[in-house]
Amino acid sequence: MKNTVLSFKEAKEEGKKLSMLTAYDYSMAKIIDSCGINGILVGDSLGMVIKGDEDTLGVTVEDIIYHTRAVKKGAKNALIVGDMPFLSYHVSIEDAVRNAGRIVKEGGAHAVKLEGGATVAKQVKAIVDAQIPVMGHLGLTPQSVNAFGGFKVQGKTEEAARKLIEDAKLLEEAGAFSIVLEGVPAAIAKLITEAVSIPTIGIGAGVDCDGQILVYQDMLGMFDDFVPKFVKQYANTGKVMRDAICEYIEEVENCSFPEQKHTFKIDEEELKKLY
Ligand code: KIV
Ligand code: NA
Repeated sequence: MKNTVLSFKEAKEEGKKLSMLTAYDYSMAKIIDSCGINGILVGDSLGMVIKGDEDTLGVTVEDIIYHTRAVKKGAKNALIVGDMPFLSYHVSIEDAVRNAGRIVKEGGAHAVKLEGGATVAKQVKAIVDAQIPVMGHLGLTPQSVNAFGGFKVQGKTEEAARKLIEDAKLLEEAGAFSIVLEGVPAAIAKLITEAVSIPTIGIGAGVDCDGQILVYQDMLGMFDDFVPKFVKQYANTGKVMRDAICEYIEEVENCSFPEQKHTFKIDEEELKKLY
């Protein structure tokens, strides 16, 4: 079944939970999509898991377009959301619409995501007015790492929680079709989820969000620089990969790979002519 912004809204109305994962390339998008995931985010988390940076700030619109193109070819049914990088929607509204448009037009995304509430509501409205669906993102928004003084759970005081609920309402009013809630106490995520009619997608925001999202390297156990509290490792593919790669190296060194069946042949008569 094809996922759309409409089916996302219907899922909330029907109480059906939405599943999302990140992907950054064709092969992985194909695997994830084949499992029946609702949405794939080409996240600016690629700054960390693909580019190896310490944060997401160095990601460019070009990076997102490049990876979205690959993901688009691998995914048949998932809603594809392209992340708007740091500084691609902060400078001006015009700039925000142009960059969102590029992610859709050149990358093939069905929607874009950007971080923030009241401060970006104008951008959200302008992008939605350009017929581009927008996913909001509140809480521990990684592009704010320097402003927050680190990757810290948000909404832990009454004032901060009220602000988050207000921001969520503003995003809905501005036309967002969904909101990611990241690093927010579960009870606050529940209040936000009840306060808006658009689906909330949680990451480190408890079970009461309308859906969940994880970075695939985290949930597959491929990225062990650090494992955040909100990550569940569903598999240890890091170990599976290391074991396979070590075996390959050993077999290359002792000549047990390649075998006959991996090898191309030339007709004996043709070969003789060479000597
Ligand atoms: O960039 C990303 O992967 C994200 C998700 C973690 C929500 O923004
Ligand atoms: Na992101």
